[in-house]
Amino acid sequence: MELTLDGIAWRARERLDPEVWDFIEGGAGEERTLAANTAAFDRVRLRPSVLRGVRHPETVAKILGRTWDAPVAVAPVAYHTLAHPEGELATVRGTAAAAKVPVVVSTFASRTFEELAAEATVPLWLQVYCMRDRRVTARLVERAGNAGFEALVLTVDTPHLGRRLRDLRNGFRLPAGTVPANLEGDGFAEPSSHARWAFDPDVDWSVVDWLRSVSPLPILVKGILTGADATRSVEAGVDGIVVSNHGGRQLDGVPATLDVLPEVVAAAGGRVPILVDGGVRRGRDVLAALALGADAVLIGRPVLHGLATGGADGVKDVFTILLDELTDAMSLAGLRTIADAGPQLVSQVPPDR
Ligand code: FNR
Repeated sequence: MELTLDGIAWRARERLDPEVWDFIEGGAGEERTLAANTAAFDRVRLRPSVLRGVRHPETVAKILGRTWDAPVAVAPVAYHTLAHPEGELATVRGTAAAAKVPVVVSTFASRTFEELAAEATVPLWLQVYCMRDRRVTARLVERAGNAGFEALVLTVDTPHLGRRLRDLRNGFRLPAGTVPANLEGDGFAEPSSHARWAFDPDVDWSVVDWLRSVSPLPILVKGILTGADATRSVEAGVDGIVVSNHGGRQLDGVPATLDVLPEVVAAAGGRVPILVDGGVRRGRDVLAALALGADAVLIGRPVLHGLATGGADGVKDVFTILLDELTDAMSLAGLRTIADAGPQLVSQVPPDR
């Protein structure tokens, strides 16, 4: 077994078609934001407290009234069948085999909500894109609710798809067998067509009220990068915020998520839970995000790497490694519970300018 998530990524690269690898790994534009996400974690230095007798660190987290085994969930990522034929089914199984934490299912999942719900022993959340035809979005939300999904994650950074140069150069098209399983019949054939007409480019803050009018589930907004938008989100009545730049796939040049996290946390002022994603690849990255105010993190690409290397077993490996690293780091840093990961735990090396 590989010892790190980077090791699993290398093995995944060997197995995937280069164009699929590019679709998964790539970011928008010159990929400055993509690089910044991981670089921000590299600049964190941990400040341990010694002689605290921490034999068994406790990773349990409480988010939106539910207990998670660890503060790490699966980010919404489209089309898991690109990485493994079982797609999201394997993701749900593999996650459950390692930890009871939520899987956020993309609007563009390649397995149906109903088949995932039948399989899942972990909480499922639905990621929502607001489509031009609101009836399409309302139907997805209703189906997910009926299937027992527990929360909605409204992605707010995508009025249209970012300029992903690798995909444009490759003329990337979905391989045979990979479809948006929950949109079949709605004409959403290719990622490039999402950009042209699927997403509603006029969407504004009123969408939160609209979503609340069609579903009783808690609503998180994903894609917040400023304190001002965090304040706006809380005013709009959301139940949680995901600090995200879509893994560097939307507006290139926006900051690393870790760098804006403290601003968002300060603006939210403890009124709603704050999740963050983008570049989390090691247990100590989880600790860094918690120390800077996050309640939990999401991981995106590593899950697909796990799928590509071994289906459900590969996803289990990803979570097992990450959580082993997390407990190892907690023990060495003198943290009994994740609540101990406060601001005193980190210092940051200033970025190069
Ligand atoms: C994504 N992401 C994404 N986000 C979302 O809200 N809906 C989606 O359908 C997708 N699809 C998607 C596909 C692929 C291939 C990737 C890599 C990412 C973004 C995702 O939820 C998350 O924000 C980032 O992936 C987090 O960064 P890391 O962990 O991949 O660095």
